[in-house]
Amino acid sequence: MRVIHVAGARPNFMKIAPLMEAVVHYNREHTQRPMEQFLVHTGQHYDEPMSKLFFDELGISKPDVNLEVGSASHARQTAEIMKRFEPVVEQWRPDVVSVVGDVNSTAACAMTAAKMGIRTAHVEAGLRSHDREMPEEINRLVTDALSDFLFATSRGACENLRREGIPDEKIFFVGNTMIDTLMRHRELARRPAFLDGRSMGQFAVVTLHRPSNVDQPRVFEEILDAFEELGKRIPIIFSVHPRTRDMAEKFGLLERMERQENLTLTDPLGYLEFLYLLAHASFAMTDSGGIQEETTALGIPCLTIRENTERPETVKEGTNVLVGANHARIVREGEAILEGRGKRGRIPEKWDGRAAQRIVRVLAELAD
Ligand code: UD1
Ligand code: UDP
Repeated sequence: MRVIHVAGARPNFMKIAPLMEAVVHYNREHTQRPMEQFLVHTGQHYDEPMSKLFFDELGISKPDVNLEVGSASHARQTAEIMKRFEPVVEQWRPDVVSVVGDVNSTAACAMTAAKMGIRTAHVEAGLRSHDREMPEEINRLVTDALSDFLFATSRGACENLRREGIPDEKIFFVGNTMIDTLMRHRELARRPAFLDGRSMGQFAVVTLHRPSNVDQPRVFEEILDAFEELGKRIPIIFSVHPRTRDMAEKFGLLERMERQENLTLTDPLGYLEFLYLLAHASFAMTDSGGIQEETTALGIPCLTIRENTERPETVKEGTNVLVGANHARIVREGEAILEGRGKRGRIPEKWDGRAAQRIVRVLAELAD
């Protein structure tokens, strides 16, 4: 059996690493009928700290091909990925194309495979924010509608798929590959040099990159106001995504961020340093999908700067609180954590480090 794995943007790399490793393990035990795997990098993210660094740190093999699409508008980027992916599929004729997450690369390659009659596996299927203003929600809907194997991280995600009429035999509740990676690397997390003497719980960590937060100056500024307020109580470390840096520059906010006392700005960090920060933070403030899950797995309180989440189990069971891009709510919930009233949660079902293994088992049985 032959599988093409697709990855394109930062959060994809943590999800494919354990999958590719699980195939290697599978092959060790099934020497008679090994699975052949190829990796296609679409090139959606291309800066070293948004891409190559993760290959080195997570031990992902070099992509067999890089489509080098780069940045563009949604339609142009999606179309360009499809155009460049088609000849690769034609050449390799895989049994399955495996896509992860909800970025443009995910939907583009699922569409290409479906149109070519190749079965598609979607890892992280069924997540729904029910907010179609999010580009990711469109990608999720398209990818799930076209996929043959829908691998879900939660029972709620399986329910969402059933509600959309997807038959049970296509849906597999397997757990969370992002948490597989977290568990494998927890002990390898590396303390960033800029932390100086600060120890456990003596700082907060921030990431921000959703267009709804950073593409509008007023919203972006309201969030920064909240960081300024909380910065009086606790030092904040802000890993700045390239989109966020571009927008901060465009709106003239970068200087303000650089000047703010108690706010340390960093370039995007590698996985191991970022994991160290998350695991040792007092709390995180973010609009990232993956970080909502990682903080829940680590038991670190998380304030999600969004009005909704496609990962409701992190709120119902985990440490996540939705605060929106709302100054008062961010400050109130941040202060509650500092006063010892942070949310404690439990780790969701099957977030146990074995999701990739379950996925590979299903593919080996059913896709051959
Ligand atoms: C993308 C995903 C989003 C995901 C995020 C993870 C889509 C629609 N969005 O958002 O779901 O949460 O990645 O990080 O797929 N840029 C660089 N260097 C890079 C990559 C991007 O400078 O290596 C800059 C470019 O100016 C680019 C902008 O960031 O225009 C946005 O990149 P893009 O991949 O379009 O969207 P993200 O905001 O990164
Ligand atoms: N991450 C990282 N370095 C950083 C910020 C985030 O390694 O400086 C990791 C984070 O731990 C998680 C993933 O990137 O594993 C999340 O990606 P991102 O927030 O870009 O995308 P999303 O999950 O929102 O789609």
